Amino acid sequence: MAARGEFSSRLGFLMAAAGSAVGLGNIWGFPTQTAENGGAAFVIVYLALAFLLAYPALMAELTIGRAKRANVVDALGHISEGKVAHYIGASVGLAGVLTASLILSFYAILAGWMMSHMVEPITTMVGATDASSWLLSQGPFRDTLFTILFSVLTMLIIVGGVREGIEKWSTRLMPSLLTILIALILYVLLQPGAVEGLQLYLVPDFSRITDPDLLMNAMGQAFFSLSLGVGTMLIYGSYVSEQENLPRLGASLTLIDTGIAFTAGLLILPAMFVAQHYGTPIYNDAGELAAGPGLIFSVLPSVFDSMGGIGPIVAIAFFLLMTIAALTSSISMLEVPVSFVSEHFGVPRKIATFVAGFIILSFSIVIVFNFEAMFGFVADLATVYFEPLIGLAFCVFAGWLWSRNEAMKALASGHPDGEGAWFVKVWPYYVKFVCPTLIIAMLYPTIMGLF
Ligand code: PFF
Repeated sequence: MAARGEFSSRLGFLMAAAGSAVGLGNIWGFPTQTAENGGAAFVIVYLALAFLLAYPALMAELTIGRAKRANVVDALGHISEGKVAHYIGASVGLAGVLTASLILSFYAILAGWMMSHMVEPITTMVGATDASSWLLSQGPFRDTLFTILFSVLTMLIIVGGVREGIEKWSTRLMPSLLTILIALILYVLLQPGAVEGLQLYLVPDFSRITDPDLLMNAMGQAFFSLSLGVGTMLIYGSYVSEQENLPRLGASLTLIDTGIAFTAGLLILPAMFVAQHYGTPIYNDAGELAAGPGLIFSVLPSVFDSMGGIGPIVAIAFFLLMTIAALTSSISMLEVPVSFVSEHFGVPRKIATFVAGFIILSFSIVIVFNFEAMFGFVADLATVYFEPLIGLAFCVFAGWLWSRNEAMKALASGHPDGEGAWFVKVWPYYVKFVCPTLIIAMLYPTIMGLF
């Protein structure tokens, strides 16, 4: 078997893992969910869940990955002795591969929308109005074209492997993303109406905090945002060296991810009210705040229009930011099936990438042509149900099926205090009892509601 890739440094891992975590989920999903779930109350619940549930669950994936040094199917298959455990582990791993692929299949379509909106200001500037209106209206041909473009970009980066592909591109793309985001926030906060958006975002209505839908949405969002429950973080963990302090890396990653989601909220919610100031309606007929695709594709462009001459440039920058964020996430999704196919079956990486990439792309195109029936269904199935359920399975594997000694040793490697560190001592119990209980408690009302 070819030598396995490894990230060259702590920064390389952080950039790649943050690249995976920070995506459309942070800049679009989190602010949208916040707007839909009543503002600051959602933010508080989300932050609590990110650190008290998602972070320890992330540590389960990173630790298993680094200890087993394998793709998700083989890693889980070898977590404990015995045939039954082996088959259960491998099946959960396969469910992860399937879920990562499902997520990529709808994510590539969304990312394609970002790309078409990135190109549109250019066609407008050169006066190609027909092209502009084609680029702005959702339809199977536009969506197919941009989904293909985005998917091929994803495949080309993944073919490069860990250092030359994932690490190099994430390290280039992540800092540009942050720069564009901050520049946009500074502009929007100076505009009329911005303060009203800030208030909604930061002043909580505590009566909503125990709403079961809010809790479930916040948990789903936290898992999606940290790329949990599909094996992405497990495979990235398998590329981390034994010398790294894993709990600290995981904590930095959680901080970066939640920090960027929070920062994106500082852009999107105020921008909605700035748009309202300029005459774009932001409440629907039922009196609820506009969310979903409308948020980005109607509200924000009206803010860009208000900027005068630099508006189109800012629009291009914003949609470029979204495309970059999506790309560093999509490569991490594709790495899940690619690492499985190439390691497990000994297929060369290049072939594994194009085979997995084209199968997923074909499925994306099926979704594009059956958009109404399939898009929401696939997205919900993968993110609302599969991700938390597989995340739960990872915690059960780490807490119940893995030998505690081995788990602690794996977690402690690279930690300055070794197995004496408090985190290393507490985590095995936390992931064994607290994480599964929290996940089940939050999934329960939704699953029961299905029957
Ligand atoms: N974390 C990404 C986002 O917030 O957009 C989405 C994601 C990436 C989910 C990778 C799952 C995954 F494996």
